[in-house]
Amino acid sequence: MYDQNVYDDEKFFNGYFALRQTKDNYNVLIEQPAMSKLICAVKDKCVLDLGCGFGDNCAQFARMGAKRVVGIDISEKMLSVAKKENSHETVQYVHSRFENIDTLNEKFDLVYSSLAFHYTDEFDVLMKKIYAVMNEGATLLFSQEHPIATATIDGNGHYNYDGDEPVSYTFSHYNKSGKRTVEWFVKGVQKYHRTFAQVINAVAQAGLTVTQVVEPTPDERALSIRPSLRKEFIKPSFLIVKAVKK
Ligand SMILES: C[S@@+](CC[C@H](N)C(=O)[O-])C[C@H]1O[C@@H](n2cnc3c(N)ncnc32)[C@H](O)[C@@H]1O
Repeated sequence: MYDQNVYDDEKFFNGYFALRQTKDNYNVLIEQPAMSKLICAVKDKCVLDLGCGFGDNCAQFARMGAKRVVGIDISEKMLSVAKKENSHETVQYVHSRFENIDTLNEKFDLVYSSLAFHYTDEFDVLMKKIYAVMNEGATLLFSQEHPIATATIDGNGHYNYDGDEPVSYTFSHYNKSGKRTVEWFVKGVQKYHRTFAQVINAVAQAGLTVTQVVEPTPDERALSIRPSLRKEFIKPSFLIVKAVKK
């Protein structure tokens, strides 16, 4: 069972909060635009957002006309921002691990998760639990850190440069899945590495049909705002998977 709630660590939270306030972060320039293109119509639908964080996506679903939105997060600090900044009459925030969704007594038309699944060690089980809370025809859309980015044990991979120009990326331990401990705002941040095959197989073996896989790259606008994003053409930071329950 996932045993860390690092977003409630004050130093981590402050660092992450400050990062998300910036206008040129990776979420804003790469991950969110790619996810937005894949979101299905949610008008009059029920949406479940796993690891909803500050609740920006929950609020977006509400604005898109969702009948009901449930946002789940393990972090009280993240949820307190969500309740303050992104409350809406159709949005309910639940303080829980998303591994507990089998205790929810309802089903959803869209299960959404942005950059949270690399924190769970129970991905195969989670996929089965997600399948169980999806209506027939429902969509699962999630992003996570890309397996190439999570692979290396004891630290992150690194880019190699020719002068100022990034030319390659070095990583290791790709086929050794399991816990990774990295430094990000604080030491000892735990996440879990799974290979691309393990991610896709877990979705498929839960009974879902994968309809799209995206390894997003920055567009011209993003590159003009943050030229260093050209590194994404060497190694993607994110993996996005869309699947349906037929
Ligand atoms: C990178 S943040 C993303 C937040 C939000 N989805 C977004 O895109 O802005 C990851 C979030 O997942 C939450 N999280 C991580 N593991 C979780 C778990 N097992 N159950 C519930 N929430 C979890 C964290 O507390 C954090 O709010």
